[in-house]
Amino acid sequence: MGGTAEGLAALGLDTIGLDFADARVETSVATMLASVETELRRNVESADPLVAEAALHLTQAGGKRFRPLLVALGAQFGDPTAPEVVSAALVVELTHLATLYHDDVMDEAPVRRGAQSANSRWGNSVAILVGDFLFARAADIAAELGPEAVRLQARTFARLVHGQIAETVGPRGADPVRHYLHVIAEKTGSLIATSARFGGLFGGAPARHVEALAGYGETIGVAFQLSDDLLDIASESVQSGKTPGTDLREGVPTLPVLYALASEDGDASSARLREILTLGPVTDDALHAEALGLLRESPALKRARETVRSYAEEARTCLAPLPDTAPRQALESLCDFIADRTG
Ligand code: IPE
Ligand code: IPE
Ligand code: MG
Ligand code: MG
Repeated sequence: MGGTAEGLAALGLDTIGLDFADARVETSVATMLASVETELRRNVESADPLVAEAALHLTQAGGKRFRPLLVALGAQFGDPTAPEVVSAALVVELTHLATLYHDDVMDEAPVRRGAQSANSRWGNSVAILVGDFLFARAADIAAELGPEAVRLQARTFARLVHGQIAETVGPRGADPVRHYLHVIAEKTGSLIATSARFGGLFGGAPARHVEALAGYGETIGVAFQLSDDLLDIASESVQSGKTPGTDLREGVPTLPVLYALASEDGDASSARLREILTLGPVTDDALHAEALGLLRESPALKRARETVRSYAEEARTCLAPLPDTAPRQALESLCDFIADRTG
């Protein structure tokens, strides 16, 4: 981190490790993200006290602001002070936040951003409806940016929903790993691609730079989701702000699980792990702890980590059309961070 007074650390937004080659870029990004914080709070207000409380709950519980960060970095290839850049960041963060309210209902997750999830605090109906309210707020702000923003947000959201549905119904006969990679491109790569695209677009960057940013966002988004899945296995709750092993408990077969199931390793640990995973959702506490322990030590986890690295490297190559300046170097450093992410 560059560590200027106005830097990301001062905002509490330094959980994403970024190497700003230039302090001016860090200040510009931090200034933009500070505006996003203020505007986010203002934009989730409601006259209904329950809606207001439940919408503010996760808005201010924390969060890495990864998507606004990508908007801010993308905008560096044009004019990052353009007021539309902050609005574009609000659109992607509110869309993201809305999907978290819904995702925690689907995944029956008790904890989000280190706080009680909305579904566990207010029940599924309130969590779903507050998620809908946040989508509405995102659409309202997109409308101020014009029809192109509305269309991009709508199409991105459609992709994201298809990803969540594809995950829910499973591979339906397709290769499980291919299916999984498709799911995460749709559910996560889509919005992260749009975040980087929005930054370039509303910063007024040249069209071919905007395309490069979108390609980068899509690929780093897949790497980001894969690294998140690894954290679900490898991290403690304090680091991730979520409950470890949720995917396993819910029977969401992420890459390490798919690799473990497909492995032909003959050792006792690998065989035992396959035996437990074949059963589907691991809800029994003792079995869950055993499977998590075995997964943490498994060759499958190592292999999945290599897959994350290969996506992070691919993202780096997407940056080739961009000028080799400090903002591009910051995006490159993000590839290193995602490849080695532990929190
Ligand atoms: C969580 O996203 C869901 C994924 C796509 C992995 P983030 O990890 O960006 O969540 P917050 O915004 O920091 O809480
Ligand atoms: C989150 O998916 C992706 C979206 C919300 C679209 P996950 O279920 O994998 O993410 P976490 O682990 O709950 O954050
Ligand atoms: Mg989830
Ligand atoms: Mg989910």
